[in-house]
Amino acid sequence: MNRRIGVFGAGAIGGFVGVHLSAGGADVTLLGRRSLLEHRGRLRARRVDGTELAPGDALTLTDDPEALRGCAVILVTVKSQDTVAAAQQLAAIADPDCVFVSLQNGIDNARELRAALGPRVIAGIVSYNIIREQGGALLRQTTSGTIITGVGAGPKQVAAARTLERTLARAGLELELRDDIDRVLAGKLVINLINGVCAASGRSLATTLRSRDLRWCWAQCMREGLEVLTRDGREPANIIGLPAWLLPRVLGLPNFIVTRIAGRLVEVDPAARSSTLQDLERAAGATEIDALNGAIVRLARRHGQRAPANEIITDVVQELAKQRPPLRFVAPAELRARVSAARR
Ligand SMILES: NC(=O)c1ccc[n+]([C@@H]2O[C@H](COP(=O)([O-])OP(=O)(O)OC[C@H]3O[C@@H](n4cnc5c(N)ncnc54)[C@H](OP(=O)(O)O)[C@@H]3O)[C@@H](O)[C@H]2O)c1
Repeated sequence: MNRRIGVFGAGAIGGFVGVHLSAGGADVTLLGRRSLLEHRGRLRARRVDGTELAPGDALTLTDDPEALRGCAVILVTVKSQDTVAAAQQLAAIADPDCVFVSLQNGIDNARELRAALGPRVIAGIVSYNIIREQGGALLRQTTSGTIITGVGAGPKQVAAARTLERTLARAGLELELRDDIDRVLAGKLVINLINGVCAASGRSLATTLRSRDLRWCWAQCMREGLEVLTRDGREPANIIGLPAWLLPRVLGLPNFIVTRIAGRLVEVDPAARSSTLQDLERAAGATEIDALNGAIVRLARRHGQRAPANEIITDVVQELAKQRPPLRFVAPAELRARVSAARR
């Protein structure tokens, strides 16, 4: 690529992908908060197989949005609650030909970006977990998976998506292009309903997956999500190797059976934490819960239904976001009891 790639919101995902794009030979500008600037010369990405990458020579870290002027492609990697503000800033500075790629969780981000930026927005997901270590200087992948984006509506978007695919491949990172990206977003949202369960209970992904009570809570959230997304015409795609409809059934089984038939699912790095829990722990204030479990609650209401498991999880996380440390997380058995009572 002869023009720059920008990243708006270089935290865990933006930093990880940005380091790879830079290592793949692109000229990359990462926009983040002031604290990002402390990582100049130190930023690294470590993949799940242990491979550690340093960026290439052409990497700029900045906290000035103006630095994204002139980029050919800008990845949007802010949390969903910051998408509308990011879109407004981008509309003011980005070149008319710039293509935007959302690598965010939730089903509404690309639509919100398009409202401000027009059809030149491609939706995408990252199917794995990244945590920030060493104060944010090391961006570590803790689960396996891929990046998936749409192919884009017009020739410029298609060219941009292919450039990202090639550049990331040079750095050893897979990007899959799909023409059913709306179904992929829905499939990712169903999986992401675990974020709220982890955040409400304060448990890591590994602990959540090994707790029968928390798996049960996740399964109830997934059941509601699958039903309402399908009713809304967005049948969730299978993105983790098990059909979306099968997963809630598997999750309710005893630990030794789950380990046997979905071993990869529960074999998670003990350090892996949902990004919603990471936000609570950093006392970041707002979390992404409204765009995850909260999105299922809203979608259900739109169809004259209720999604009680997702309602409880959303309420608990919103309450936790208002607390000061130490946060009063809800124990697994208590969370299950509350979800169970709400579903009766
Ligand atoms: N982390 C994961 O494992 C993971 C995996 C798959 C998908 N995702 C999704 O990817 C998206 C990004 O998640 P993440 O974990 O990478 O979030 P993150 O670590 O919080 O990164 C987002 C960064 O953007 C910054 N930011 C927000 N608005 C900004 C602005 N106007 N100017 C400059 N910087 C701004 C944030 O700073 P402040 O925090 O100071 O606002 C934060 O540093 C989310 O939708 C998430 O659900 C995350």
